[in-house]
Amino acid sequence: MTFPCKILLLGSGELGREFVISAKRLGAFVIACDSYENAPAMQVADASETFSMLDGDRLREVITTHQPDYVVPEIEAIRTEILAEMEAEGVHVVPSARATQLTMNRDAIRDVAALELGLATSAYHYAETLHEVREAASDIGFPLVIKPVMSSSGKGQSKVESADKLDEAWKHAVGIMRGDRQRVIVEQFVDFAYEITLLTIRTREGVLFCPPIGHRQERGDYQESWQPAEMQEQSLADAQNMARKVVDNLGGYGLFGVEFFVTKQGDVIFSELSPRPHDTGMVTLIGQNLSEFDLHARAIMGLPVPHIGLTAPASASAVILADRDSSEFRFAGTAEALALGKEGAEVDVRLFGKPVTRTYRRMGVALATGENTDDARALAKSAADKVTILHD
Ligand SMILES: Nc1ncnc2c1ncn2[C@@H]1O[C@H](COP(=O)(O)OP(=O)(O)OP(=O)(O)O)[C@@H](O)[C@H]1O
Ligand SMILES: [Mg+2]
Repeated sequence: MTFPCKILLLGSGELGREFVISAKRLGAFVIACDSYENAPAMQVADASETFSMLDGDRLREVITTHQPDYVVPEIEAIRTEILAEMEAEGVHVVPSARATQLTMNRDAIRDVAALELGLATSAYHYAETLHEVREAASDIGFPLVIKPVMSSSGKGQSKVESADKLDEAWKHAVGIMRGDRQRVIVEQFVDFAYEITLLTIRTREGVLFCPPIGHRQERGDYQESWQPAEMQEQSLADAQNMARKVVDNLGGYGLFGVEFFVTKQGDVIFSELSPRPHDTGMVTLIGQNLSEFDLHARAIMGLPVPHIGLTAPASASAVILADRDSSEFRFAGTAEALALGKEGAEVDVRLFGKPVTRTYRRMGVALATGENTDDARALAKSAADKVTILHD
């Protein structure tokens, strides 16, 4: 039998794992790649490759060996120049090599959004020395946020309230910086009323949107999300217009997670985006007819998406985090979590199968539906609290 397509997945975390399941349900053959063995997506893929995707030679070699129909990046830390070179040689990169290159660095995507497309963003400057950080701060004012241009999940990010704390924030950002550039973005702190992820799908038939997802972050990292986020019609229309402009500029087909802040007045501010499924979008695993992973797979494979709809009035997800570094552990309480479900208030969990825990590492997620987002959030949180990680 011939597979409808062969997919090379670059990055094999929890989002990759769900994507593999969706793609395999549509018959795809998937090779999952990551820097360590037995990563979550590898456990459900047809084949795997273990290597550093920041190693350009290895990356080229693996793509050349497998000759995939689609190269699907799941993470940002990839030698994206190689993807651009290989796209020019005829390799199909999802959604496009340009999208992976621009979103790998905060400065690149921010410049496209703010300068090229004229989207509203927070005031910002880039800095490569402490002196430049101070200059940027004197222009922007306090509070402000400092982030490495290359990082994710809030790593190296700090909110700074006063000038005497700039030194510490600069060192924190530079200390954990991925890649070879000592460069940070110094950004005005936005006192938003709420923030959303707008899952935006670019298909051959046009651009589609999922109902907006609300979320809450701690330490710059995702804690819980819910859908639909309640928002004014005009704010939603503004967010959709902005998302459409960005994804059309980046090009290609697939699902994008576009992040916005919304102020008390309803003004929408573009923050950043992922050209791939988004962690806050895991809530769609329970609340939509097609999850963000199903939608990504369909858009990539050129399959139709006739309808995106909610299957419950509201849904929510809450993360299950580790509290220490360990490779000897087991989960307890899954049964108690699942037992919380009932008609109209369903509960499910996803345990990612990561081989080791680290402090604050996301090990799983609890999912719930409800009559409204408050109920769904409370239920997802209760279910997540039931699942514990034992180290005995
Ligand atoms: N300028 C800002 N003003 C207010 N809050 C901010 C600002 N920048 C970031 N945050 C908060 O920190 C979170 C993470 O920031 P951001 O999305 O820029 O970083 P990230 O490391 O790419 O995170 P992720 O990869 O998890 O999306 C945001 O969702 C928001 O809650
Ligand atoms: Mg983000």
